[in-house]
Amino acid sequence: MKLIITKDYNELSKEAFKVMKEVLDSKKDVVLGLATGSSPVGLYAEMVADHKNNGTSYKDIVTYNLDEYVDIDRNDPQSYYTFMNEQLFSHVDIKPENTHVPYGNTAEAAKEYDDAVKGVDIQLLGIGRNGHIGFNEPGTPFEERTHIVELTESTRDANKRFFDNDINKVPTHAISQGIGTVMDAKKILLIANGEDKADAVKAMIEGPLSTDCPASVLQNHPDCIVIVDEAAASKLTK
Ligand code: F6R
Repeated sequence: MKLIITKDYNELSKEAFKVMKEVLDSKKDVVLGLATGSSPVGLYAEMVADHKNNGTSYKDIVTYNLDEYVDIDRNDPQSYYTFMNEQLFSHVDIKPENTHVPYGNTAEAAKEYDDAVKGVDIQLLGIGRNGHIGFNEPGTPFEERTHIVELTESTRDANKRFFDNDINKVPTHAISQGIGTVMDAKKILLIANGEDKADAVKAMIEGPLSTDCPASVLQNHPDCIVIVDEAAASKLTK
């Protein structure tokens, strides 16, 4: 696991972009694993600026997102499908049919998505306050594949900011790539900022390999880069 600590979120997004850009430049038909949430917003803005200013093309690029809420309309403003279109897809020349965001609430839908996720060159991840990656909450077996998840109270509480600050409006379930699916990616880039991620970042990097902190599994990945700002790094001791 390679760790980079940046001064702030802006610098974090620029460092993350450097890692992403190296992969984008490595071949034209790169397969990207993408995440939603607040953490990657700055990185996506860097990618959009690079497309506009330097002409980096997404024409042959294929993407697979990590997760989506269950029982939410695809076009709902809070769906992860909408998020991806607003933050990235509609601003670059990617073919809509090459973008994939999981959808559905059945084991069959999860299996179908899992079978489709292939050859991810770089998987982007954020981390939950409880150490989740994707929506793999604490206790999820490391070998789990794409599945339907019941979200924890901690995760729903963290995400209520997108739902009028009302936890009751946050969906209770999601469809998420499993940890096993995530770990198949050739390279992993995890980004985290802010003090409320400091405990999770510490457990991921310095804690034991344990399903209590799903992100600790990344200690086992052969090519994982973690970029955090000083606030998220503030509890690291080593
Ligand atoms: C999003 C995802 C989640 C988030 C995590 C952090 O697709 O899979 O694991 O990365 O909840 O969310 P933010 O970035 O909003 O703090």
